[in-house]
Amino acid sequence: MSKRKILVTSALPYANAALHLGHMVEYVQTDIWARFQKMRGHTCYYCCATDTHGTPIMISAEKQGISPKELVERMHDVQEADFKGFHIGFDNFYSTDSDETRELSYEIYRRLRADGKITSRVISQLFDPQKQMFLPDRFVKGECPKCSAKDQYGDNCEVCGATYGPTELKNPYSTVSGATPELRESEHFFFKLGDCEEFLRHWTREAGRLQPEAANKMNEWFEAGLQDWDISRDAPYFGFEIPDAPGKYFYVWLDAPVGYMGSSKNLFDRIGEDFDAWWKVDSDAELYHFIGKDILYFHALFWPAMLKYSGYRTPSAVNVHGFLTVNGQKMSKSRGTGITAREYLDAGLNPEWLRYYYAAKLNSKIEDADLALDDFVLRVNSDLVGKYINIASRAAGFIAKRFDGRLAAALPDSALVAKLQGAAQSLADSFEAREYSRAVREIMALTDEVNQYVDQVKPWELAKQQGRDAELHGACSLLINLFRILTVYLKPVLPKLAADVEAFLAVAPLQWDDAQTLLLDHAIQPYQHLMTRIDPKQVEALVEANKQNAAAAAAPAGPKVEPLAPTINIDDFAKLDLRIAKIVDCKHVEGAEKLLQLTLDLGDHTRNVFSGIKSAYKPEDLVGKLTVMVANLAPRKMKFGLSEGMVLAASGEGPGLYLLEPHAGAQPGMRVS
Ligand code: 2FM
Ligand code: ZN
Repeated sequence: MSKRKILVTSALPYANAALHLGHMVEYVQTDIWARFQKMRGHTCYYCCATDTHGTPIMISAEKQGISPKELVERMHDVQEADFKGFHIGFDNFYSTDSDETRELSYEIYRRLRADGKITSRVISQLFDPQKQMFLPDRFVKGECPKCSAKDQYGDNCEVCGATYGPTELKNPYSTVSGATPELRESEHFFFKLGDCEEFLRHWTREAGRLQPEAANKMNEWFEAGLQDWDISRDAPYFGFEIPDAPGKYFYVWLDAPVGYMGSSKNLFDRIGEDFDAWWKVDSDAELYHFIGKDILYFHALFWPAMLKYSGYRTPSAVNVHGFLTVNGQKMSKSRGTGITAREYLDAGLNPEWLRYYYAAKLNSKIEDADLALDDFVLRVNSDLVGKYINIASRAAGFIAKRFDGRLAAALPDSALVAKLQGAAQSLADSFEAREYSRAVREIMALTDEVNQYVDQVKPWELAKQQGRDAELHGACSLLINLFRILTVYLKPVLPKLAADVEAFLAVAPLQWDDAQTLLLDHAIQPYQHLMTRIDPKQVEALVEANKQNAAAAAAPAGPKVEPLAPTINIDDFAKLDLRIAKIVDCKHVEGAEKLLQLTLDLGDHTRNVFSGIKSAYKPEDLVGKLTVMVANLAPRKMKFGLSEGMVLAASGEGPGLYLLEPHAGAQPGMRVS
């Protein structure tokens, strides 16, 4: 068997959300495949990274009062810990916000531009005048143009199901600031995907590139026609600024897949592999992307086209999987099934239980996989613990107690050795083809046969009989050997358990071909329990914890609130004369760092007020707005002039200052009480 060079990736997780059990399907699927390839002796690297750029991450950082860089660094570490918890064995878990990914994105973009694949034109888009930013569709809400349901997103109505564009919403508002968005024009860059059609039609139809279901989807897209792809976003944006285009940034989906390259470059530079040898056009390395069905368009159209026309090799194949359902339904917080990776681990559940269950469910089709919680408990307990672990636990004690921990020098004649060893090829074919459920079924059928042998020879009875020591020794040594072969086959799925078995057997890390050898006249370690059964109560507690965490997250987060001032009575309050005021003019104050000068209309007269709100507002954004002022505050002489009152603004522990604004209908001069 010749040695292959294989680079494997999973989709890069966004930095603004916790990993949940749905995500883990893909990482477990990929990890099993990469571990299998390594056990076969191939040179295989599994690379991933945090997907860091884009508006949602920028806004999420702002809400938390930290910089986007800080947010993505924190999340990188959180994600890395979750992956470790599930034994996802990345060779590199990097970040798209890296020098490697930036340089490679620039290079790809420049080459595409030189090849005539980039064009630009002016488009109109909704703009938030208060935040001074263009709004992605998901940040605009309003009333459905068809049924008038309130608070619907800019693309479709959850109430009547209508689809429309964000500009069709009635009374639209920005979910970032609440302001009414306006249409603004701006120049955008486009990748001319339509020019790549011939290449893509050919590429997607080549044998082995895509699963049949994915290839069919491609045909639908080709029939609908390939549109130019908008690859730029205007500042403010968290991402890579486009070369020669100040204020324009790459759309996150341009640099995200380049993150696969960036992560591998970072790894290869470190371990002395030649990056070019893996990524050049005629590379003899294989490249596989594992992804979910929702991001096929990016991976089977944009990405191969970007690679092809910038002079790089294209993926050998894109392996697509379906979604995870829990108990037959979409994951849901209210049902307690939107379980995060961390919640699972914190509840004390063994990650390998889930790895095993996923493996037992996964195949190479784009089908949804169901985590049926009752079945999960049954299957892990009966198959993994009841059948497989059982073999070792029944044989190991006798080896330790009766034979000084040493396996026999020869094994009794048994067809089972040949049977288990003979399964290696068909199991390898199943793993290679991502038919894990088929592999698990075959392994469990072999396990059943081994258990039948146990029931037949009854070591516990041999142990009670005089003069049958050699038989007992042989039978138990055979069982340990069969257990070892089964462990080889399960190792891609259960890497931690396999490591524990290696320690118990006192052997070097098991490779695929080790299934063909036997362990004879060899000292093993005392047996320690390798895996416990799932207590159904643990699963119930996990679902309950998820419900509670979801409820706590939905409740308003408890920010630090300043303690309340001493109580006053109504007469104290009545001393305050609060009035609605219209800001008719607003200026910077020369020499004042924090102040804006406001001219306030109180209905029958105007006032001049200096207010320390410069950090939060631009003068032109305030003119024409209504606010609330303390109208009977004694005038105060300041360096810049007389301040005749005070406008009301909210502020808290963190940064941020918010001028009060009355509901529509309030008129200048009205008293506030
Ligand atoms: O859909 C997602 O979660 C993306 N963050 C996946 C990116 S995959 C790759 F292209 F970077
Ligand atoms: Zn509607």
